[in-house]
Amino acid sequence: MSSDSVVIVRAASNVRGLVRIPGDKSISHRYAMLAAIARGTSRFHNFSAARDCASTLECVAELGAVWRRTEDGAVEVTGTGGPLTAAARALDCGNSGSTMRMLSGILAGQPFTSELFGDESLSRRPMARIIKPLSEMGAKIGSSDGGRPPLKIHGGHLHAIHYKPEVASAQVKSCVLFAGLFADGETIVDEPIRTRDHGELALQAFGVEVERQGCASHVRGGQLLTAIEAHVPGDLSSAAFFLCAAALFPGSQVSLPGILMNPTRARLLDILVQMGLRVSVAQVEQHHGELVGAIEAQGATWKGGTIVGADTAALIDEIPVLAAIAPYSENGLDVRDAKELRVKESDRIAAVATNLRKMGAEIEERPDGLRVPGRQRLRGAELDSLGDHRIAMAFAVAALRAEGETTIQGADAAGVSYPSFFNDLRTLAA
Ligand code: S3P
Repeated sequence: MSSDSVVIVRAASNVRGLVRIPGDKSISHRYAMLAAIARGTSRFHNFSAARDCASTLECVAELGAVWRRTEDGAVEVTGTGGPLTAAARALDCGNSGSTMRMLSGILAGQPFTSELFGDESLSRRPMARIIKPLSEMGAKIGSSDGGRPPLKIHGGHLHAIHYKPEVASAQVKSCVLFAGLFADGETIVDEPIRTRDHGELALQAFGVEVERQGCASHVRGGQLLTAIEAHVPGDLSSAAFFLCAAALFPGSQVSLPGILMNPTRARLLDILVQMGLRVSVAQVEQHHGELVGAIEAQGATWKGGTIVGADTAALIDEIPVLAAIAPYSENGLDVRDAKELRVKESDRIAAVATNLRKMGAEIEERPDGLRVPGRQRLRGAELDSLGDHRIAMAFAVAALRAEGETTIQGADAAGVSYPSFFNDLRTLAA
């Protein structure tokens, strides 16, 4: 494998070893944003190395927070302890939908106007899902092309709402709860399906009272945030690539210490076990409400299965890699209720189908999912990440069991969430 924009992945006979996975991207974004409005200096160990999280740090720095990397590699963020200051220029969110959507919640409550833009992929992604609730709260938001970036947010005084989002999205939930900090009264987000709760746990870590009942989370405006010191758990969505690599080889053995075990994310482990991976978790601890554990995984027979309904929402970021390895399974994979995959960093249903077909696989693409038959043999091919980090990494894993070599164009996209991915894969793949 080379580690620049074009990467060649050769077939492997097994995967074995230990990988220390960088900090969780979802948590790192939220910690950085809340630290920016908290009083004092927060310190984060194992903060995500993702380019997406660097976008968030750069944005909050433009808004008056100060961040630096300490000698031991921690990230420190000194917050304003009150309102942010207007940025001198438009805020560059890069490839990061999380940065744009969640930061918009905070900016909606600031007494100034902000502009946010992103790269080509982010410029295509839907923002109406945050524009609607923030407008109901009193912010004025301009967008282009029926709710796409760039966004112009005229922030100010907000009022609380009881919001029932149509799409199950943790980014939308966090956006509205963050805006709720600047609103009169109690803001409630009542979700159709329970999504990851890092926003709620991060708010609580910074000293905010968040009440939770079923799928509803409540926050009262006007609460003050105080800086924290935290260790960010290893990102389970990054670990997923190595767990899926382990699934491909009976007799594989992968150790992943310090991984996020938050129950709203860890459904992945249940599904991997159901599909045939042997998984054990030890040394479970809790840091600021987030569960962390050491994962040991061993491959056996990879069976595949079905992902549907609430499971689809819970595994939305891991479906590309599960689909990419599905041809090697006994029974194939059926994914339903996944139309959100079409509006991620790429159209991930189309990206998976195109790349699997290039490797010689049969696959049925549906508007909201896909069906990949099992017991297929794949051959190495020339693939394209389409600029999407999870597609680049998913197909590097699929390539481990293909015949011959696979070339992945645009492999540097992996850095959006996991810059050292190809090095770490190389240490595992024999
Ligand atoms: C995320 C939520 C999910 C996920 C994304 C990160 C988060 O997106 O796909 O990678 O940190 O809240 P949606 O909120 O759009 O479902």
